Amino acid sequence: MPKAADGYENAMTKPKILLTRPWPEAAETWISERYDVTVNRTGQPLSRDELKAAMLAYDGLCPTVTDKLDAEILGQPGARVKVIANFGVGFEHIDLQAATSAGIVVANTPDVLTDATADIALLLMLMTSRRGAEGERQVRAHGWKGWGTTHMLGQSLQGKTLGLFGFGRIAQAVARRASLALSMKIAYASRSRVAPDIEAELGATYVESLDELAAMSDVLSMHCPGGAATRHLVNARLLGLMKPTAILINTARGSVVHEAELAQALRDNVIWAAGLDVYEKEPVVHPDLLGLDNAVLLPHLGSATIETRNEMGMRAATNIDAFFRGEAPRDRIA
Ligand code: DGY
Repeated sequence: MPKAADGYENAMTKPKILLTRPWPEAAETWISERYDVTVNRTGQPLSRDELKAAMLAYDGLCPTVTDKLDAEILGQPGARVKVIANFGVGFEHIDLQAATSAGIVVANTPDVLTDATADIALLLMLMTSRRGAEGERQVRAHGWKGWGTTHMLGQSLQGKTLGLFGFGRIAQAVARRASLALSMKIAYASRSRVAPDIEAELGATYVESLDELAAMSDVLSMHCPGGAATRHLVNARLLGLMKPTAILINTARGSVVHEAELAQALRDNVIWAAGLDVYEKEPVVHPDLLGLDNAVLLPHLGSATIETRNEMGMRAATNIDAFFRGEAPRDRIA
């Protein structure tokens, strides 16, 4: 770091930063070399009281998806935190309006997890359509009786329709994979229609509503943000519009799916299968889903590659660094 640009090395103390979880080594080393960094190494997310106390004790906070920062926590009298650099792209756990009112700058880590998350959506599509998890469980339970002409038949995805709800970076990356690798047809619904060149590149058809998308899709994949506006969009009513052979994929946020109603629909074969990476009350998964062979359940692995998590850490670290250098963090969202 060039000395001349260094606003804090000349000061008596470096800004105090809290990482609410340990980070990949390279990013943690990078930020620790530059700041007075404390890392929560308990293996547990911080409690609400600990988050409140952190707001009073640190200059910068680096939370993750598991740290709920609401108006009461952010707006505490005497709060010292001036910048929040979230380790992750989703930010529904942070009340941005409250942060702005409290004069706190907030940044996230977009772009770097697009491919990893799109890969997980594709993995879930293949695991559900080809019954991958069910087959693996059968082998491990010594239940496999050998090759058979009708043994554990799945469905081909070739040429089928993938419906994407929300059509940002990750959804477009899923569309690219599905169309190139599986010759799937792409349809999408979203708040706003994308530019014609993007539609043309992906061969994507825009449809007006989620209902219409659900009814036409062989695979419906959710890519909208979480929060009140999208809570339980996937419920018994919507599932009832889908084809009985259809597959639901959710790599977005757990709150988007009504888990109890999804479990009922899977039990009643209203749809063929569901692949989930995110849940309403993580790490708790609705008990009704756990016993279902047609539910493929992953533990929020969307961004979980070594490469991506390193990049997320570096992106959060450089956002913090920009702030304390007096620059605008590259990924500022509030
Ligand atoms: C994010 O970045 O929002 C992810 O869900 C965490 O992997």
